[in-house]
Amino acid sequence: MSTSKKHHTGAFGIDIGGSGIKGAPVNLKAGEFAADRVRVPTPQPSTPEQVATAVAEVVDSFDLPKDIPVGVTFPAVIQHGVARSAANVDDSWIGTNVEKVVAKTTGRSVHAVNDADAAGYAETLYGAARGEAGTVLIATLGTGIGTCMVVDGTLVPNLELGHLELDGFDAESRAAESARERDELSWEGWAERLQRYFRHLEDLLWPDLIVVGGGVSKKHAKFLPLLDLRTPIVPAELRNDAGIIGAAALAAHAAKV
Ligand code: BGC
Repeated sequence: MSTSKKHHTGAFGIDIGGSGIKGAPVNLKAGEFAADRVRVPTPQPSTPEQVATAVAEVVDSFDLPKDIPVGVTFPAVIQHGVARSAANVDDSWIGTNVEKVVAKTTGRSVHAVNDADAAGYAETLYGAARGEAGTVLIATLGTGIGTCMVVDGTLVPNLELGHLELDGFDAESRAAESARERDELSWEGWAERLQRYFRHLEDLLWPDLIVVGGGVSKKHAKFLPLLDLRTPIVPAELRNDAGIIGAAALAAHAAKV
């Protein structure tokens, strides 16, 4: 038997966002936290060294096995560990190897993924798209729009469909939850924008299911019924926990391959 790789039923997930850094150990069988999560505010300015130090503070508040897989979400395109963009975090992240800076402060090997990829992957494993075959598109509506596509259980990483140009605009600048608040839209007014956005997405991608996440998804009854799409569209189930759970699951997956 190989001793070099251990398969875990547990992993640790960390969600790095513009305002908070949250972490918890995750029970991967159940798809839920194995202990209460710990949150620290995102340091300002949110430069790589400062954020990585805060991440270490979160990790160190738990007594974790040395080789537990550790996953972090980051609000940016993450290509092979390197941030290629930066949404709501300091621009100095662009070109930074997130995995390396966090490994340095935590003393652990780390797997970094885009925030929407983590949340969407968690929904397909344990949440609203659990057991769904085919193409699942997950969109998180928040400050921006994060998107994730999972095809028969396989994640297609870094789909930046929030930045699709639609009617001459960056789509997220009109359809994100922050645009609803900024423009003081009614639910109907916002739903018109979402209708345009999701209809366009379904015309291009032909998903089998669309899952809508982000904080506003808990108010789904106010806007999802107003949408007229051919694709079934449902609210996310894991809510705020999705990022941490997805990061942990993807880290465990990466450790196995
Ligand atoms: C970024 C994505 C991110 C999303 C949600 C977008 O502005 O480009 O990488 O997933 O916001 O945070």
